[in-house]
Amino acid sequence: MNKLLLAPLAVALLSGTAFADTIKIGVVGPFSGPAALQGRNFQAGIDAWLALNGSQVAGHDLEIVYRDLPAADPAQSAALTQELVVGEGVQYLAGYYYTPDAMAAAPILEEANVPMVVFNAATSAIVNASPYVVRTSFTTWQTSTPMASVARERGIDKVITVVSDYGPGIDSENAFVAGFTGAGGEIVESIRMPMNTNDFSPIMQRIKDSGAEAVFAFLPAGPATLGFMQSYVENGLKSAGVALLAPGDLTQEPDLFALGDNALGVLTTFHYAVSHDSPENHAFVAAASKALGSAADLSFPAVGAFDGMYVISRMIEATGGQQDAAKAVEAVKGLAWTSPRGPVSINPENRHMTQNIYLREVAQVDGQYINKEIQTFENQGDPGWKAP
Ligand code: PHB
Repeated sequence: MNKLLLAPLAVALLSGTAFADTIKIGVVGPFSGPAALQGRNFQAGIDAWLALNGSQVAGHDLEIVYRDLPAADPAQSAALTQELVVGEGVQYLAGYYYTPDAMAAAPILEEANVPMVVFNAATSAIVNASPYVVRTSFTTWQTSTPMASVARERGIDKVITVVSDYGPGIDSENAFVAGFTGAGGEIVESIRMPMNTNDFSPIMQRIKDSGAEAVFAFLPAGPATLGFMQSYVENGLKSAGVALLAPGDLTQEPDLFALGDNALGVLTTFHYAVSHDSPENHAFVAAASKALGSAADLSFPAVGAFDGMYVISRMIEATGGQQDAAKAVEAVKGLAWTSPRGPVSINPENRHMTQNIYLREVAQVDGQYINKEIQTFENQGDPGWKAP
């Protein structure tokens, strides 16, 4: 090193100030392929956070390093995560849309001394896969449980459940069945569909034949949810009066534009609606819509990413920019703030969000189709989490 380069180092050491080095955040998500809209929403949430808060935290520049994982693929998730840690030297990992991808990456964290902030993957058990996992999304136990009491309050006695056959689907089914039968309801049949199912007509026929008054359904938001909703309408279940009950993955806002009047009246329970009326959400929606280039594309993965960036910023502050995963995670246990979705906090026991879950009804307001919040279940923890 020559004298010119040594001079600022000496000044920094003498004055006790740390260098403003760049902190890399590795983000894994579906940025191409059929679920690319969900990945674009991760990016929009990050961009919105940077636009509203700046790209420096505690004097450190943030650099976001993206890795594309187009479909649920645990082996590829582990490979990309490893490469981000070893090749890119990221200090934080974030994103992870699908449960199997978060699960496959979690064993890397302790050895790498890197926290993971899960922006979406929603199976309760993910937080048990590593003490360095923190989650800013939701669990399907959390979003599905209130729907059971909504159904009973509306006088529904017989339900058929239909879910994708993997972690969040099984959690969602278990949550609804526990709540619904616990309140005296009857489950007439439970169907688990392979994740790659895209022809839903045979399922719709089984729903019709089951004699259920309503179908409770979970699929991961993406092309399959839109297909499922269209099939529900096209196969005459809606017109036959078979109610559709679901967590909000099935009515993400970008799909509402495609569904039009067909989705009107559908009830869902979820942690976030784009139409949520608060100053925090209005600022978020404006910034995230700008990042997407279209307000109509905005969906819930963006809020998980936006809050995830806040959590990472607090981790960076708490560690002074040093790489110390244990200290970073410890610092956000119990953290409480106002998210665009409403008041939230991180449960220190399981590192998952405690938050409001809203009952929403698909409605048309000022020519727009929205998930209109009509009831609030306050401060919901994760009923599906069990201590390891
Ligand atoms: C998941 O794989 O955990 C997942 C994906 C999409 C959703 C919900 C859960 O909408």
